[in-house]
Amino acid sequence: MIVPVILSGGAGTRLWPLSRELYPKQLLPLVGERTMLQETLCRLEGTPDLAAPLVVCNESHRFMVAEQLRAIGQVPTAIILEPVGRNTAPAVAVAAIRALAEGGDPLLLVLPADHVIRDAEALRRAVALAAAEAERGKLMTFGIVPTGPETGYGYIRRGVPLDGGSSAYAVAAFVEKPALETARAYVESGEYYWNSGMFLFRASDYLRQLERFEPAMVACCREAVERAAVDLDFLRLDAEAFAACPGNSVDYALMEKTADAAVVPLDAGWSDVGSWSALWEVGARDADGNVSHGDVLVHASRDCYLYAGSRMLATVGIDNLVVVETADAVLVAAKDRVQEVKEIVARLKEQK
Ligand code: GDD
Ligand code: MG
Repeated sequence: MIVPVILSGGAGTRLWPLSRELYPKQLLPLVGERTMLQETLCRLEGTPDLAAPLVVCNESHRFMVAEQLRAIGQVPTAIILEPVGRNTAPAVAVAAIRALAEGGDPLLLVLPADHVIRDAEALRRAVALAAAEAERGKLMTFGIVPTGPETGYGYIRRGVPLDGGSSAYAVAAFVEKPALETARAYVESGEYYWNSGMFLFRASDYLRQLERFEPAMVACCREAVERAAVDLDFLRLDAEAFAACPGNSVDYALMEKTADAAVVPLDAGWSDVGSWSALWEVGARDADGNVSHGDVLVHASRDCYLYAGSRMLATVGIDNLVVVETADAVLVAAKDRVQEVKEIVARLKEQK
């Protein structure tokens, strides 16, 4: 049995002004009709042995998450509510603890709720392949062939093929968010994949290994689940226990350290749409390379990302710009500097 564990806790600050604390990117229909959370679940349809999902999100998003699941006919095993964000390692740990409490020891397919994957069939094939290895105790990652020296990703060095001649490989090294020079060398070597941020492992394998490296974290998570309040589909983690939990990501806490990681290559049109330029890359471009959303009128403009949220947006003679219009804020940015949008968000936070 494979239980999808959907991580829906991020803030998506680089997609300001659309993505906000109360309305983060995974809950928005950024690419297509459905929201990114809905897309994440819908693309799994047809995966053999799939159980109902466990969704882990901040408690302030609970009604939106519940409503978005309902709208696509998904009945979750539980929506686990975090009183505060403690990053991905605890989020996956509480899901694993909850899954084990149901009896059995399912495989957990950990999926960020905010990725774009064009080829769902290729994803399902990779999941089936990884599931066979996870059954044997491996902590599976999905490797993307890198297209540049991105420093916001984890890098996976491909080791020897696993037994049985399948196209899964041991992980020879896992390096989370390397410096630019290091990332460059990795990409040039041709031996590295990007870590997609999706994982597949047995609930008990994850917890046992995490316990070795982060015993305090696992103890806090157990307590937070034991003392959780159940309210309809919601499992509200105990606030005090979870607040005391050390924060860390699966990548730093576990994947960099374990000897049991393995990787399945994934060629499925993956993008984590972390920024406006990434949305431009995955979007449907017109003949001049513009990607438009909403009521947009373009004249003599090239390679722009244009988003009209509440009013009409018209452009004349601009290129390589990002313009995002919402009811209370407008962003105009150079497309090659959109990573810096997070500086604006940081300044807004200071002003609050
Ligand atoms: N529930 C919950 N709680 N979800 C969280 C939390 C949390 O505290 N923190 C992050 N998430 C969710 C985010 O919404 C996102 O969907 C996913 O977990 C990954 O978190 P990010 O913060 O986006 O991680 P990252 O992008 O820096 O790095 C990860 O993803 C890269 C690929 O996109 C790593 O796994 C990298 O190795 C990987 O390359
Ligand atoms: Mg991310």
